[in-house]
Amino acid sequence: MTTGDSSSAGEGQVVVQLDAVRKEYGESAALDGLSLEIRAGEAVAVMGPSGCGKSTLLNMVAGLDRPTSGRVVVNGEDLGSMNETGLALFRRRRIGMIFQFFNLLDDLPALDNVALAAQLTGASAAQARRRALELLDELGIADRRNVYPAALSGGERQRVAVARALMNRPALLLADEPTGALDSHAGEQVMDLLIDLNQIGQTLLIVTHDQRLATRCASRLVEVADGRVVRQSTLERTA
Ligand SMILES: Nc1ncnc2c1ncn2[C@@H]1O[C@H](COP(=O)(O)OP(=O)(O)O)[C@@H](O)[C@H]1O
Ligand SMILES: [Mg+2]
Repeated sequence: MTTGDSSSAGEGQVVVQLDAVRKEYGESAALDGLSLEIRAGEAVAVMGPSGCGKSTLLNMVAGLDRPTSGRVVVNGEDLGSMNETGLALFRRRRIGMIFQFFNLLDDLPALDNVALAAQLTGASAAQARRRALELLDELGIADRRNVYPAALSGGERQRVAVARALMNRPALLLADEPTGALDSHAGEQVMDLLIDLNQIGQTLLIVTHDQRLATRCASRLVEVADGRVVRQSTLERTA
């Protein structure tokens, strides 16, 4: 067994690499020289107090915002070298995102919320709807496909959001407090879903201040304070 060889068998390729990323907002720094590497197949939980830079970190990885300095490489692509159009394409094709408050479109039923993600990358409406229905079925909510978000439960909304995030088979699924707005039962279901996805190989980056979410779903814990990584540990996942 070799060590330090990123291509050795059993170790995933590097999917995310952040080198000394700094992000300033006015006078203060939301990220202060943060470095982090994530390999294919990992489930990484980032934890830290409110305001420590967790959402800013996700925004950097998703190419939603640019660092003031430092480098962000995702799936082999240096985001700093892309223009806005390139970043938008990268985001649609390579990144799935889920949020605390789901961010579904209120005036589209569940199926169309999911299908839209593929239509934006050029899939036909028929192809997109077919895959959307498959995903809703896998996530156990196909019977809710014609229901509008307002009539779905929180857990159902988050499952629709997960289906939407998976539409384009992203290299990386990002989750920002995915259980933060859910009751404990729905939260557990979303955790089960994230665990299942990771077990079939989906790389996950989850930011949360829910200790249970981290210990249940993640294989590695990254603790952030004041915009820097202060501790990392490998987790034994608990049931
Ligand atoms: N768009 C923004 N404009 C100004 N300040 C911001 C912006 N986004 C985040 N911040 C600040 O950066 C810091 C980190 O924020 P954030 O990444 O949202 O933290 P967390 O997600 O860990 O709660 C906070 O002090 C926050 O107020
Ligand atoms: Mg946040």
